[in-house]
Amino acid sequence: MHVLTWGCQMNVYDSERLTDVLAAAGWATAGSAAEADLVVLNTCHIRERAAEKLFSELGRLRKLKAVREAEGERMRLAVAGCVAQAEGKEILARAPYVDVVLGPQTYHRLPAMLARAEREGAVIDTEFPAEPKFDFLPETRAAAGGPVAFLAIQEGCDKFCSFCVVPYTRGAEQSRPAVAVLAEARALVGRGAREITLLGQNVNAWRGEAPEGGLWSLAQLLRALSQIPGLGRLRYTTSHPVDMDEGLIAAHREIPVLMPFLHLPVQSGSDRVLKQMGRRHRATDYLRIVRRLRAARPDIALSSDFIVGYPGESDADFAATLGLIREVGFAQAFSFKYSPRPGTPAARAPGQVPEAEKKARLAALQALLREQQRRFNAAMVGRWLPVLFAGSGRQPGQAVGRSPYLQPVHVAAPAGPQALLGRIREVRILAALPNSLAATLEPEEHTRA
Ligand code: SAH
Ligand code: SF4
Ligand code: F3S
Repeated sequence: MHVLTWGCQMNVYDSERLTDVLAAAGWATAGSAAEADLVVLNTCHIRERAAEKLFSELGRLRKLKAVREAEGERMRLAVAGCVAQAEGKEILARAPYVDVVLGPQTYHRLPAMLARAEREGAVIDTEFPAEPKFDFLPETRAAAGGPVAFLAIQEGCDKFCSFCVVPYTRGAEQSRPAVAVLAEARALVGRGAREITLLGQNVNAWRGEAPEGGLWSLAQLLRALSQIPGLGRLRYTTSHPVDMDEGLIAAHREIPVLMPFLHLPVQSGSDRVLKQMGRRHRATDYLRIVRRLRAARPDIALSSDFIVGYPGESDADFAATLGLIREVGFAQAFSFKYSPRPGTPAARAPGQVPEAEKKARLAALQALLREQQRRFNAAMVGRWLPVLFAGSGRQPGQAVGRSPYLQPVHVAAPAGPQALLGRIREVRILAALPNSLAATLEPEEHTRA
């Protein structure tokens, strides 16, 4: 089998777990699609032309499949993820050589679906089943085993922002029970994870069954996770401003292993646009959350998502977004031109902004964000930062890790990058490059753990 992944970190996690499900059913991992007896495309529906991208990839695979069949061998094709959920029927109509189409909530059923496709021909399963898929996943995680791990704790979204497909593709908000999360986290740490990022489309809306009954908040879950020996770092993503409650803000003050970095999408700085987007918060609410977070954890670095050219966005609305960015000062951000997604309310809204205008606004916004990122990185030069090393760099003898603020940091590793793998070391920052920091190792005595 070979799994190709597009989209968010949740999809990356899903692909890992999908691999586990297939491995448990006897499928071995292949190095490439050309050698695989099963290719799974785990798709994302958030960007424009997602379906086109899928069909062009399928066209390529169809040729590989024909070659294999001419050799008397089999290659099966499965389409999973958010495009499959949204456009499952169209996929089978346009690409009848696909064997299985499955949504994000049914991947635990893939081996059974493959068996059924064998007997009956193409199978589609894009239900939102009553049983949570997590209960059906193997306990062992084959693909995991690095110092940096991801763990899905929450899935789906009930917010229905007017521009977004996620509530339709991922379904309703669901939280995994604390006991299951703690067990998976302990297993990950047992296999070498030093850092865990909790994942969810709306991760801070997590309200899971507590070990002793009742419900825990994300802050309570983070506190319990922070007690796991050997776990040096915790993060969570993606959060919604509305669910950023006092307890969670306080967790940033109280939990030392909770890293001082938060991805908190705001989308726009204009209250008028935010209202039309159905975001349920105003610009001032966001600014107040940022102030409270900084009071709790003064060095916290912020990241966000922005959409420019939402239907009806005026020059003044856009100026308000630039104003918010200036007021907050972001360490990093993602920004997008609004693109209509079929089936979402905003796609039919009046006042669609011309492409040229969107392009100009995006360029102006990104120039400002780039400048903020440059300043943020430049401010690190000369400082000592703890870095968790997770791999080797492009140059020989170079090791790469992440700062607490998620910046990639590379150092020359005299004993080789392997010797640093999984260790958190204090390094001195020598230079800020556009997307990373160059550093030097501190003498051993400052080593942590
Ligand atoms: N659950 C997360 C992620 C949503 S998708 C959240 O609530 O933030 C990631 C980002 O894609 C969004 O934050 C938004 O900025 C962007 N996005 C989603 N739909 C979009 C659309 N139709 N056009 C442009 N950008 C979009
Ligand atoms: Fe989409 Fe809004 Fe839900 Fe985020 S909160 S996933 S942007 S609907
Ligand atoms: Fe894409 Fe689905 Fe994630 S649409 S961003 S893969 S939730």
